[in-house]
Amino acid sequence: MDNFEFYNPTKILFGKGMIAKLDEQLGKQARVLILYGGSSAEKSGTLAEVRKALGNRSFCEFGGIEANPTYETLMKAVDVVRKEKVDFLLAVGGGSVMDGTKFVAAAVPYQGEPWEILLKQGETVKEALPLGTVVTLPATGSEMNNIAVISRKETGDKLAFSSPHVFPVFSVLDPTRTFSLPARQVANGVADSFVHVMEAYMTLPQDAMVQDRYAEGLLLSLHDIAERITKAPSDDYDLRANLMWVATQALNGLIGAGVKQDWATHAIGHELTAKYGIDHARTLAIVFPAMLKERREQKRAKLLQYATRVLGLTEGTEDERIDAAIARVEAFFEGLDIPVRLSAYEIDQTGIDPIIAQLKEHGMTALGEGADITPEISRKVLERSL
Ligand code: NZQ
Ligand code: ZN
Repeated sequence: MDNFEFYNPTKILFGKGMIAKLDEQLGKQARVLILYGGSSAEKSGTLAEVRKALGNRSFCEFGGIEANPTYETLMKAVDVVRKEKVDFLLAVGGGSVMDGTKFVAAAVPYQGEPWEILLKQGETVKEALPLGTVVTLPATGSEMNNIAVISRKETGDKLAFSSPHVFPVFSVLDPTRTFSLPARQVANGVADSFVHVMEAYMTLPQDAMVQDRYAEGLLLSLHDIAERITKAPSDDYDLRANLMWVATQALNGLIGAGVKQDWATHAIGHELTAKYGIDHARTLAIVFPAMLKERREQKRAKLLQYATRVLGLTEGTEDERIDAAIARVEAFFEGLDIPVRLSAYEIDQTGIDPIIAQLKEHGMTALGEGADITPEISRKVLERSL
């Protein structure tokens, strides 16, 4: 196991009715800005519940943060924060609103042009406003990590940054606030969480017993959830609660501590979103099975471990078990009604070149747990997913 530092200060308030506890989390004098997305938080009643929980405290609101939040929109929120002398940011939404809020938190006190935060991947962030979240979409794990992914319309970039200063102080996870999600977003959440676990786990054996068993527990849960969630009623509290908690833990740093991680699928996926506007989770379903096929020798031992311990595949030769495991991964996405091919988005061979060019432009030229996935290998991965 590699050396590691693990730090995660986010307090979790989990369960039905926990939004009412917002009041206790905030100082009496706090000047709060609620940040939210389009219309879903208003329609579902989540915003009303949040406003009520804030009581007589002074607060203002900033709506309109889009899916794949943009720098252009978020800089408007930075202006509001400065003008209204806000000192606490409260994100109400999914990954896009939470990530956008992290960017605003870091951009407000930033010395210099805030886009630099993305260009330097967060290294230049020295401070940030405190933030909390009320989660409405279990998927990204943004509620308990220090990562944000921000897009810029002007340049067509989609870049990530991380900083210890942007961990949420607290996150409220009330599964009932997910009941209003469209089936497509629920499926996206299951798929994104699954790939988050896989990016940490499906690498090479590293004799990390706890990380492996923990990841396998999350994967078993996700297989179980995926099996049931498309048929279950949208108000199945326990199922939504399990999805919410799995999504949070898939990317809160624990399973990735002390092990080499992959993240090549995410790097390629971000470029697919930037170029073609495909939902984040859906890009992962295109890339990840193809990545497993292309990297089956490098990932051989872990593919076999996953086949045995998670899928219970014990019959046949090693190669047959690996084939079966990869087929099960494809079936996992397809069972959620998420396509695993570029052709489903009418992208053919000619659509691959721009993605490779973007990877090069963003320095994504040595990806994966072995830092040996070159743009040429990324091209082969995408060709396998045509
Ligand atoms: O905008 P509104 O009207 O609120 O609608 C949203 C949005 O259209 C809707 N929605 C959210 N909660 C709802 C709801 N609709 C009905 N009922 C509810 N309770 O869902 C749509 C998608 O929301 P979004 O926040 O964009 O989805 P998600 O949570 O999947 O976040 C995706 C973003 O997170 C980034 C992605 O790249 C993408 O930009 N990621 C962030 C990560 C992180 N911070 O660690 C890691 C991930 O790998 C990912 O890259
Ligand atoms: Zn993701």
